[in-house]
Amino acid sequence: MYPDLNGKAAVVTGASKGLGAEIALRYGREGISVVVNYNSDQKGADDVVAQIQAAGGKAVAVQGDVSKEGVADALVQAALDHFGRLDIFVNNAGLEHPAHTHEMTLENWQRVIDVNLTGVFLGIRAALRHFVDNKIKGNIINMSSVHEQIPWPRFAHYAASKGGVKLLNETVAMEYAREGIRVNAIGPGAMNTPINKEKMNDPAQKAALEEIIPMGYAGEPELVANAAAWLASDESSYVTGITLFVDGGMTLYPAFMNNG
Ligand code: NAI
Ligand code: BGC
Repeated sequence: MYPDLNGKAAVVTGASKGLGAEIALRYGREGISVVVNYNSDQKGADDVVAQIQAAGGKAVAVQGDVSKEGVADALVQAALDHFGRLDIFVNNAGLEHPAHTHEMTLENWQRVIDVNLTGVFLGIRAALRHFVDNKIKGNIINMSSVHEQIPWPRFAHYAASKGGVKLLNETVAMEYAREGIRVNAIGPGAMNTPINKEKMNDPAQKAALEEIIPMGYAGEPELVANAAAWLASDESSYVTGITLFVDGGMTLYPAFMNNG
């Protein structure tokens, strides 16, 4: 637990399930008031809010597609309306629609880039406008992936979006470092969330996945929430512009494990 987080307020995008939900719940336990953004899964978002409130915390669910102009600004405004402040903005929402590149439709490419990259830009911009205008040493956390570094066949749009998030993250971290605004990314490996449900339920696919994780197993979402709490806290006050990989070693060239 990080005592300096108590009493702060955060927006977490795509927080109705998976990693976003886990981050929102962890923030709630830290005493952070949370705007729980969702796009279509209102029930999931309401459940997360109810769990935070049941534990004595504050939270509100707010609908919005992060790829659309104005949505991130409305999320900032919701934090100000409900909690009177905003300190932390987590750009977590993301999706994948695999397709071989020669068969990938422009619509498919565009949707993944719109949500995973443009959505992160819009979230960063909305948070910065609030932080800069009010001289707040705020904190921005962007959900990247091991695929900001590892190429991934059938996921050209996804890998391109996460590669884009890497340099967006680094550039904005540099640009606002003198304002005391910190900007960091998290790069999860394979985590047990709905995005990976099909893979994890198929024994052959699960075994193939575990083969490329040096630690030998997919991670639980709490492990990413731990990173999101540390990056938001003053314990990481001299850290900006990094991608903190939470990946069981996936980025370490696992093919070399038995090659020596
Ligand atoms: P998930 O599919 O379980 O959850 C994604 C969330 O984003 C859902 O709540 C969904 O409704 C929301 N979302 C999707 N499009 C949205 C939009 N346009 N506006 C608002 N919300 C939207 O996925 P998961 O695993 O929780 O992924 C979260 C983030 O973590 C994504 O950015 C993903 O790329 C990233 N990631 C996940 C990994 C994993 O193994 N689960 C590994 C590396 C990165
Ligand atoms: C993807 C997961 C995948 C992991 C490792 C993440 O970016 O969202 O589906 O398991 O990377 O490949």
